[in-house]
Amino acid sequence: MLMLKDIIDESNKKLRIVSKGVTFPLDKNDKKRINEIIEYLTNSQIEERAQKYELRPGMGLAAIQLGIDKRFFVIVHEEEEKEFKNYIIVNPRILSHSEELIYAGSGEGCLSVNRDIDGIVPRYARIKIEYQDEKGNKQILRAREELAIAVQHEIDHLNGILFIDRINKENPYQDEEKMRML
Ligand code: NI
Repeated sequence: MLMLKDIIDESNKKLRIVSKGVTFPLDKNDKKRINEIIEYLTNSQIEERAQKYELRPGMGLAAIQLGIDKRFFVIVHEEEEKEFKNYIIVNPRILSHSEELIYAGSGEGCLSVNRDIDGIVPRYARIKIEYQDEKGNKQILRAREELAIAVQHEIDHLNGILFIDRINKENPYQDEEKMRML
């Protein structure tokens, strides 16, 4: 079982690596990791389990956060009350995005950033990506709102970018009025 201690912290320079493209079929270890990530993210979003196993809640995790420099990530999104949908996204590419910007009102979180962060992370409200699923099949995902934020956050990880990099240091709430709060 994946534990919080397996997830590398922002002080680790590995998080700054630009991850490499994935070839198929996926290797056994990567498949195992994907399943462990799904398990972690699901449990972490169910309060009783999160408490029991001492899991910090999170909806997304990129391979590099486990030290694997490959372009894949997993998002477990609660679409309805306790109904989770798993997204296994390999080799994503952004096809298009909205003009409209949004930001997470309660702040964006990251399992690799273990401190409170003030400020706004501008994200596109809607985004369309092309990616491969775990079998290597091409897929298209249109994500909006919370899921769109998560997808952009995780794609950033593949490029060595953390959400804290996108907050204006001098003025963390810059352009707040130009974006919609989620
Ligand atoms: Ni993150």
